[in-house]
Amino acid sequence: MLIEVRNIFFSYLPRTPFQVRALEGVSLTITQGESIGIVGRTGCGKSTLVQHFNGLLIPEEGQVLVEGVDTRVKGEALKAIRRKVGLVFQYPEDQFFEENVFQEIAFAPKNMGVEGKELEERVRWAMEMVGLDFATLRDKSPFELSGGQMRRVAIASILSMQPEVLVLDEPTAGLDPQGKRLILGKLRKLREEHALTLVIVSHSMEDLAQIVDRIVIMDRGKIAFDGPIRVAFSQGDFVKQFGIFPPVVSQVASLLRSRGFEINPGVLTPAELAEEIRVKILEKKEREHAGSKRGNWSVRPS
Ligand SMILES: Nc1ncnc2c1ncn2[C@@H]1O[C@H](COP(=O)(O)OP(=O)(O)OP(=O)(O)O)[C@@H](O)[C@H]1O
Ligand SMILES: [Mg+2]
Repeated sequence: MLIEVRNIFFSYLPRTPFQVRALEGVSLTITQGESIGIVGRTGCGKSTLVQHFNGLLIPEEGQVLVEGVDTRVKGEALKAIRRKVGLVFQYPEDQFFEENVFQEIAFAPKNMGVEGKELEERVRWAMEMVGLDFATLRDKSPFELSGGQMRRVAIASILSMQPEVLVLDEPTAGLDPQGKRLILGKLRKLREEHALTLVIVSHSMEDLAQIVDRIVIMDRGKIAFDGPIRVAFSQGDFVKQFGIFPPVVSQVASLLRSRGFEINPGVLTPAELAEEIRVKILEKKEREHAGSKRGNWSVRPS
């Protein structure tokens, strides 16, 4: 088990009149290689939860274990946790502080003692992983880049630590469709080719449908659903109560089912839906063909 969250509670401004209870008895486990989406209405506790995964926030009650180590540890042990679980904040570009892209991405591994040729290779690798050209961008100020490039620099600056888990809080928020598509494609590749464990907080169900297998729906500081994304999105009425609207593809699939087509309710992508429809049409044709061979008496009156 990579990350184990055991019945955690967390409040902001505790023991003050302004206390806000953000998490109330949350438990979940994350296993190596999983890809998980965390969703729910604004203010339900998603960011608060993921900031517990690397010890940035410590629960008031309950425990978070990263490879068996409680995040309450200090010093080197805490640093090791932060390296294993890389967290990319929402609008991470607001936190750039180095003068060029190279230094921004080199910052974390440098702090880990990586230097010289190895550091350069590390930065080059991280940039490649997110589709940024090392030679042309290394000396640029991060602030000269486009929104999508900035976001990718931010992701690269966490990837350069070579974390085991990459946690992204709203990775595509505020990006144009092209920037969005690029980042999603790169994340999918990281997952497929490098078996990176991914946790993605997102308000975009369309994005998540392309990249995660499991979804955790939060509601007012608690977990309302934790299971396969195909199951969640095939139950539109259930998830709607938590402000979740399945992607158009899932909605079309469920409409087709309600009109008598036996479409698999778990289809997630346009390609999967197209394939389902193609197979259903072929089956229908085969039935008709078999019917016509048996003679006219088998043809139903129209
Ligand atoms: N720094 C803070 N101080 C006080 N209250 C906070 C703070 N950060 C979050 N909260 C409150 O804690 C609750 C959970 O917030 P959180 O940011 O975890 O929600 P979220 O699900 O990430 O929302 P969003 O979708 O808007 O990002 C909310 O009621 C929020 O107002
Ligand atoms: Mg948030």
